[in-house]
Amino acid sequence: MNLKELDLQHLIHAEVHFREIARKGPVIISRAEGSTIYDTEGNAYLDAQGGLGLVNVGYGRKEIAAVAARQMEDLMYYHTYFHFSNEAAVRLAAKLAVIAPAGLGKVFFTLGGAESVESAAKLARLYQRAKGRPQGDKIICLEQGYHGNTMGALSATGMAKHKELFGPLVPGFVHIPAPDRFDGPFGYDDPEAGAKYAALLEERILAEGPETVAAFLAEPVLGVGGTIVPPDDYFRHVRAICDKYEILWIADEVMSGFGRTGTTWAVEQTGVTPDVICSAKGLTSGYLPLGAILIADHVVERIAEADLPFTHGFTYAGHPVACAVALANIEILERERLAEHAARMGALFMERLASRQNPYVAEIRGKGLMIGIELVGAAEAAGRPAPRIPGFAFACEAALFKEGVITGVAPYRETLNLTPPLVLTELEVDRLVDAYDRVILCEGRRLEGR
Ligand SMILES: Cc1ncc(COP(=O)(O)O)c(C=O)c1O
Repeated sequence: MNLKELDLQHLIHAEVHFREIARKGPVIISRAEGSTIYDTEGNAYLDAQGGLGLVNVGYGRKEIAAVAARQMEDLMYYHTYFHFSNEAAVRLAAKLAVIAPAGLGKVFFTLGGAESVESAAKLARLYQRAKGRPQGDKIICLEQGYHGNTMGALSATGMAKHKELFGPLVPGFVHIPAPDRFDGPFGYDDPEAGAKYAALLEERILAEGPETVAAFLAEPVLGVGGTIVPPDDYFRHVRAICDKYEILWIADEVMSGFGRTGTTWAVEQTGVTPDVICSAKGLTSGYLPLGAILIADHVVERIAEADLPFTHGFTYAGHPVACAVALANIEILERERLAEHAARMGALFMERLASRQNPYVAEIRGKGLMIGIELVGAAEAAGRPAPRIPGFAFACEAALFKEGVITGVAPYRETLNLTPPLVLTELEVDRLVDAYDRVILCEGRRLEGR
């Protein structure tokens, strides 16, 4: 059997209909460099999705491979349970404390995004118990939020359709509408939109009973849900509300962290600081799996004072090879100023695509190289509510693939998501602008029967 046949025979892919993958066949990626990936048949693809929104320093960095090999020879594994530790985990925790927003000086390692979310939710409950609020166990999340596929993270995820086949889910996760000015009740023309969306949080806290709420969990820029960028003042209001009711604000920066939005953390652009940051993805740019939660000192201090045990952990948490790789990755992000580069390339892409005035593009939004393109029917695009063409985004994804471009798609919305490597060049920006503009126009006309 060749590789494709073996794949179809044995490998279960993530997020697929089994019959569909059997029909389409697998695309087996065999090597990659910069922002380009190659399949086993020699086809090249410009990866505007950057893996799954994580290859921040780009593919093929030999210096990271060398660091991993060296660390593996010295110490390939030791855990961080009990009083055990290892140098790479300590050095990475210390580095993260330096680059974290002020006050977030404690780090707990996980293996990926979902585990970071699970860990943050458990920590928030523990914190409320330490404060003498034993019923404070609810986590308020956003209806369009995405936080991962494990049971707890899936319970935190909004997107009802994504989880309808897997219930019962974990109790205690409740959802409010996201600050979505394109689709939600408070639009761009409403200067109070940020305050009004945040007021939905306060209403929900009061409806649930403030003493029953542990935390508010949200992505600073919602990624999978369709690159939703909250109003600038939204999180300032959120911070004040969380303080008022003594609940934690957990920022899920699994996708938005490590330079993707033009700053190390997306929350830096909000002017306020969360109590916990969930991270993964860009922490290692995908060179090895690793996640981390960055925790405010006051949270850990409170749990320590109450002398409650943190009975939580993962066999591979603080894995020395993954931690050494993360350190090398962060050094590259800093040395090459990739956050600033992402801000510049993202602005160029948005400007240049907007200048094409594509009739099917209702909005191009984002921060840095976390960009969403909202697709609507051409005739009515200027009006509201904007009519969608069902399947438009997935049709564009397939057509872009044929043109050698990999794009992300919001699964429950007609939005194309771009999260390319932060090393994207200006030439590649232009190539993407051309490809997206042409494909959107062509697919829009085809689907509208023009
Ligand atoms: C914001 C956010 N949180 C959590 C996750 C889950 O991460 P993982 O797939 O590593 O579990 C993702 C993955 O896309 C994400 O975008």
